[in-house]
Amino acid sequence: MIIKNVSLETVCGITSKLPETDKPEIAFAGKSNVGKSSLINGLMNRKALARTSSSPGKTQTINFYNINDQMYLVDLPGYGYAKVSKSEQEKWGKMIERYLHGSKQLKAVFLLIDIRHDPSANDRMMYDWINHQGFRPIIIATKLDKIKRSQLQKQVKLIRTGLGMPAQAPVLPYSALTKQGREEIWEYMEQFINE
Ligand code: GTP
Ligand code: MG
Repeated sequence: MIIKNVSLETVCGITSKLPETDKPEIAFAGKSNVGKSSLINGLMNRKALARTSSSPGKTQTINFYNINDQMYLVDLPGYGYAKVSKSEQEKWGKMIERYLHGSKQLKAVFLLIDIRHDPSANDRMMYDWINHQGFRPIIIATKLDKIKRSQLQKQVKLIRTGLGMPAQAPVLPYSALTKQGREEIWEYMEQFINE
């Protein structure tokens, strides 16, 4: 897709009513600090429209980015951030669930996993839950620039095994620094939008 205009259209806090949009939505889920907001910036060709931070827990709202008035990229708050209280984490869990379960326009959920790490129990829970909602989660292995090229296959395999993925399901490596992987991710997104 050629990006003509992008804007942050809706920001939802924990008690907000979720918007009922009339365009396809693609959501990005994953642990705090895994690189969701950085990926969304990369996909939009923007440096900092989605706010990022080196300390986890930056995105604390569900943010809807309007792309060309054609679709939305939806930035979800990260899970598994220890400094957020259990009750707050639960509230967010419910809010994310409410969104993933309730959106009529949601076409796909991309789940981000740090390419250096084994998927956590929370990652597995999210993966299973996305499946359970009837979506085929697309895995993006983030921070590709942090590993040596020779480690790539091994790390991808760890992610596959850790999540219990079927053999043909895609894992798309991505680097927010080099933008490597950006085109493949857009190709997948366009398939979902045109379905
Ligand atoms: P929350 O909003 O807290 O859930 O985090 P997030 O998943 O949105 O992560 P964010 O995009 O804010 O990135 C977290 C940190 O990781 C920032 O310091 C980013 O610069 C860094 N980062 C994200 N993606 C990459 C990447 O591909 N490579 C490298 N080297 N750093 C990255
Ligand atoms: Mg974020």
